[in-house]
Amino acid sequence: MSSENTVVLHKGLDNVYVAESSICYIDGENSKLFYRGYSVEDLAQRSTFEEVAFLLIYGWLPKREEFEGFVRTLRESYTPPQEVLAWLKTLPSQAHPMDVLRTAISMLSLYDRQGVDGGLEANRLRGLRVIGVTPTIIASFARIRRGVNPVEPKMDLPIASNFLYMLRGTEPDAFDASVMDKAMILHAEHEMNASTFSCIVTASTLSDMYSAITAGVATLKGPLHGGANEAALKYIQSVGSPEKAAEAVDRTLAAKQRIMGFGHRVYKNYDPRYMILKPLAKQLGERKGTLNLYLTAEAVERAAVERLSQHKLFPNVDFYSGLVFNALGIETDLFTPVFAMSRNAGWVAHVLEYLADNRLVRPKAYYTGKLNSPYVEMDRRGDKVEG
Ligand code: CMC
Repeated sequence: MSSENTVVLHKGLDNVYVAESSICYIDGENSKLFYRGYSVEDLAQRSTFEEVAFLLIYGWLPKREEFEGFVRTLRESYTPPQEVLAWLKTLPSQAHPMDVLRTAISMLSLYDRQGVDGGLEANRLRGLRVIGVTPTIIASFARIRRGVNPVEPKMDLPIASNFLYMLRGTEPDAFDASVMDKAMILHAEHEMNASTFSCIVTASTLSDMYSAITAGVATLKGPLHGGANEAALKYIQSVGSPEKAAEAVDRTLAAKQRIMGFGHRVYKNYDPRYMILKPLAKQLGERKGTLNLYLTAEAVERAAVERLSQHKLFPNVDFYSGLVFNALGIETDLFTPVFAMSRNAGWVAHVLEYLADNRLVRPKAYYTGKLNSPYVEMDRRGDKVEG
């Protein structure tokens, strides 16, 4: 038994700081989010996903030459190893794309030209490769399971447009491309969330970048984290129309279920990413003829805010991101993979930052079990209470 008699349990690690970081700052009371000091509103309005990825990973906004070199490296990685593409064709079509992505990222390590080099540059390059190739893996699997051939990436397209192009087979118009890019910026980074922490735990053993990102994808998958976008859209679709929203929210809360896309461990006010995504969801709804879904979401939001805001529960990024992705023609089970392909940038940035001053993550568990239990041979077990 522990001799410490003043043990403090940090279940869920609420409010526990595990590292110093200069990558991201969240002011959860005042709905503010900064990447490397720049407000997410400014970045979504004026920047691009590639520029934001550079900013997160290197720490500054790139000069033109730096940016061009960075983009070149990303684009050189657009095409997955042939073996990974061939493997995608062998998968059951009902496999969840998040499971496919998790396994594919892990597979990439098998074809890494850096070998076992664990240095910062080798790991950075691995990270850039993952950022460049992930959209192709997701879009290729999406097409293969539809029974059509994957579309090869276009080397002159940015990541967001390229993703939509590979998914649809035709290049997106400027509006769709810009919305996709903004959505990727908004999902690119979010401080020490569960998946980023997973990446860091894995990296802290001096494992490697692919293992760290694989852990990140695995952790992002759950509905309490990245999987909430899929769940939120399905919920809004199940409500069906704005008039049914209040009753549906009452039923959900009476059943002690959660409204997906609501609440946050850090935001105790509106999520600033939600505030940018909501008008985009509306514009897309008008352009694509899916306004009823948007209006239903708005009605659900209104009913949920009326009932939950007193508990400091407000809509988060996932409430409208699903509507945005849906209106862009992205299949529902691809939402979380799309979140992952954006969050790659933040994961890579955090792993590199952490490795620069690494400390093995090794917390403790407060033991509440038995001690000195007598060992009973198998055939004699179950006759009496042991220990
Ligand atoms: N709907 C209804 N009640 C809720 C919700 C919700 N979405 N979220 C929290 N609560 C209630 C919860 O039942 C609890 O009530 P009580 O104290 O009466 O038991 C109270 O609020 C506190 O909840 P908690 O689970 O202790 O709070 P947390 O900080 O651990 O939760 C959360 C954060 C995101 C897991 C939670 O709000 C949630 O499950 N939300 C729905 C899933 C979701 O939208 N996840 C995406 C998060 S944002 C994207 C990302 O970063 O991944």
